[in-house]
Amino acid sequence: MLKTVICSTEGVPFAKTGGLADVVGALPFSLKKFDMEIIVILPGYNFTFSKNYNFEKIAQNIAVIMNKNYKEYFDIFKTNYNGIDFYFVKNEKFFNREYLYGTPEGDYDDNNIRFGFFSKAILKLLKIIKYKADIIHLHDYHVAMISVLINEIKTKKTDSFFDNSHTIFTIHNLAYQGIYDKKTLDLLEIDKKYFNIEGLEFYGKINYMKGGIVYSEKITTVSPTYSKEILTSEFGYGLDGILRTRQKDLSGIINGIDYNIWNPEMDKLIRNNYNSNNFSGKQKCKKFLVKDLFNANDITKPVFGMVSRLSNQKGIDLLIKAFDSLMLEDLYIIILGTGDEKYLTVLKELNKKYSKQFYLDTGFSEKLAREIYSGADIFLMPSYYEPCGLGQLISLKYGTIPVVRDTGGLKDTIINIDSEADIKNGGQGFKFSNYEFKELIKAVNRALGFYYNKKLWEKIMKNGMICNYSWDSSAKKYRELFVSLI
Ligand code: ADP
Ligand code: GLC
Repeated sequence: MLKTVICSTEGVPFAKTGGLADVVGALPFSLKKFDMEIIVILPGYNFTFSKNYNFEKIAQNIAVIMNKNYKEYFDIFKTNYNGIDFYFVKNEKFFNREYLYGTPEGDYDDNNIRFGFFSKAILKLLKIIKYKADIIHLHDYHVAMISVLINEIKTKKTDSFFDNSHTIFTIHNLAYQGIYDKKTLDLLEIDKKYFNIEGLEFYGKINYMKGGIVYSEKITTVSPTYSKEILTSEFGYGLDGILRTRQKDLSGIINGIDYNIWNPEMDKLIRNNYNSNNFSGKQKCKKFLVKDLFNANDITKPVFGMVSRLSNQKGIDLLIKAFDSLMLEDLYIIILGTGDEKYLTVLKELNKKYSKQFYLDTGFSEKLAREIYSGADIFLMPSYYEPCGLGQLISLKYGTIPVVRDTGGLKDTIINIDSEADIKNGGQGFKFSNYEFKELIKAVNRALGFYYNKKLWEKIMKNGMICNYSWDSSAKKYRELFVSLI
């Protein structure tokens, strides 16, 4: 049986900042259906242990040699969650913090050491639990250095334990790379030979993401379109050149969502359950939402929702530019998002100006997120780039119609509506192409044109709700890729 270990810094339900956690919390369960043995390794954050998942300590005080003068120690915790073993690397110094990656002011300044430590600890953990993985599946730059460590072990033949292990690196977001001072090599005792243009070196610094790209056997990203976009200078963030050298090992596999977790028929956090044969249930969710957030009873006005990190990627600047025009329409906008101070400041101003029509929550709330997915009519995702995007897939399932920019995974998953004929052909969203706020406004108006035609709108909702973006077909593609390596 193919043995796989999934390595990540977040995974639902243990720790989440975004879609990476959704993927890591769902993919293992779908892979398991294909007769594979899977374990997952995550950091043991203090807040992870505050939840009751029957964690069991299986080893303690394991030493990780960081360099000649410095060792760090960790404990191993484990829990079996719905049939999959999740392991946790617990170290107070690195993972007992308020946030995963940094405060709102910026990244933690020892992330190079934190992620370097985590990468080394994962290899140690695999040996301690005697898990000889055929596939080591690495997610994003935080764990990318594992491919460098494995490469070093294999070239120097220092440890036969990993002889049959193959590395796959999945890029969830190329813009976040982990670029650190050159001295990181000494701190982690990584051979200087890696400091060259074909290796870890990146404009005089070292780049963890680049390490994953150069030293993993296969590279994937989370949609076919994004796998092509990252080969261009616009979306390559300085790594398009090195990616082009690995093009034959690079592919795009679209993410799915877990319909056991995201399903309006069973969702316990929404006000009223419903399915595609019962739109009145969704109307009830809308009624609660409008009452709660705007203290209004009229549910004829369209409600626009957004659940998103507030970063450059997500098209917040477009939305801000479009805001005054949008507010001229008879509609509500709800935004739930954490993120960049520069956007928070402007959105808070707009919130004061348009408090009757615009509701803003700058926290992270699973409950409000689900109330928006279920209670809104239209979901906004005007991203500048989007490796895959899960927001649009979730909103489709909840009958909330996405307005998106035609990029990355949004391009691959949303079927555009321009005319009634498009609705007959399965259309379930409204796309615009150029990154211009006027185009966003036009797409919103196009959506509104259909919104007031109840019959057509219900057909669009149905098209969205019956789409199948479950993990099954994508997990099969991962499996094929894994098998191709062994
Ligand atoms: P990304 O990973 O780039 O942030 P995705 O669309 O892939 O974007 O996934 C975002 C995930 O995070 C979704 O599950 C979404 O519901 C969730 N999310 C984003 N912001 C918040 C928030 N403020 N509160 C609750 N959930 C959020
Ligand atoms: C990243 C991307 C997002 C993707 C998610 C899961 O956070 O920004 O587009 O859906 O990873 O792969």
